[in-house]
Amino acid sequence: MEYYNFIKRVVLLLFCGIIKFMKTLVEKINVEQIQSDIMKEAGMLIRKGELVAFPTETVYGLGADALSEEGAKKIYAAKGRPSDNPLIVHIADFSALDAITAQIPEEAKILADAFWPGPLTMIFQKSDRVPLTTTGGLDTVAVRMPSHPVALALIREGGGYIAAPSANTSGRPSPTLASHVYEDLQGKIPMILDGGPVGIGLESTIVDLSGDVPMILRPGYITQEMLQEKIGREVLVDPGLIASDSTKHPKAPGMKYKHYAPKAQLTLIKGDSAAVVDKICALTREHTQKGEKVGIIGTDETLSCYEDAIVKNIGSREDEDAIARHLYAVLRDFDEENVDVIFSEYFDTPRIGSAIMNRLLKAAGHQVIEV
Ligand code: TXA
Ligand code: MG
Repeated sequence: MEYYNFIKRVVLLLFCGIIKFMKTLVEKINVEQIQSDIMKEAGMLIRKGELVAFPTETVYGLGADALSEEGAKKIYAAKGRPSDNPLIVHIADFSALDAITAQIPEEAKILADAFWPGPLTMIFQKSDRVPLTTTGGLDTVAVRMPSHPVALALIREGGGYIAAPSANTSGRPSPTLASHVYEDLQGKIPMILDGGPVGIGLESTIVDLSGDVPMILRPGYITQEMLQEKIGREVLVDPGLIASDSTKHPKAPGMKYKHYAPKAQLTLIKGDSAAVVDKICALTREHTQKGEKVGIIGTDETLSCYEDAIVKNIGSREDEDAIARHLYAVLRDFDEENVDVIFSEYFDTPRIGSAIMNRLLKAAGHQVIEV
């Protein structure tokens, strides 16, 4: 018995050792000329039920075989993600939809024609091929065809169906650089494909086509107007996304969780630009007098107005794409700086402002001061 217990402990220690010391290989990918040997190795890991992080045009994803329960379970474990929060299945060819959906509505074909490959996720009734572990127990499945060449190569090498949430620890801002993925997941996954900075910086738009009226469950780069224009009828926005009304719950399970949040309390200041700057300066004085370290999210236009604070530049107010691209990196940077409070300007820009503000308001826990 003594001997048996000894063996059991040795096996357990070895097992823990393997888990704890899993080496995370970071492979630099030449996006212009993708190295096929690395992609084959990455695809092999996926086929064996392992996890591989990879770049997409929106954010970095943490991939596993979407049709394998074991792969999906590893994703939830590595991210510390609640298992009722479903994963998006990534495909590389439109014909791959047939096997994983029960039915493909006509409007989905129109939207795929217009926006795939690209930053749009559509929700369908699922087929039996997709395990409930992948869909968080739902009978619908979210599907996206990304446009990033490394993502497409990995999907093809990995068997055609890759489940991939953003490759961050649950609750942290999504990764827009391979180094963000490394920060969160080193030692927990075998491989990260480093394809450089992502292009968009916010997760895909999610549109639910499984009901009577199409509905946006998460705003993104593809806007409500763009969707309406293509399908020629109204597309609703999930009322659960709007404001902090706690009586309405978002329809996408993931949107109800605290998300994107930096460690320090973030407060957004809304109003006319000059008044916003004055208010942020006044708040900065108030907090520094109390001995606190203040962080500010400013823009090209306002940067020089701020002092006595850690100021991060999110880009020009004239360039909303840059604001979207820099947002998560700026939120992550503040965690490194150990600031006590953060104040940010408000970015309700014309086109993707609703996507930017959806993420920023969540990061701020809806704390807004109007001036
Ligand atoms: O841009 C993106 O979509 C990135 C990249 C990696 O492709 N992925 C991503 O995945 O943002 P994730 O897991 O971080 O967010 C997926 C969201 C969650 O809020 C989840 O609840 C929702 O999609 N979702 C997934 N399947 C769903 C379903 N069947 N019904 C409703 N919501 C669903
Ligand atoms: Mg995410």
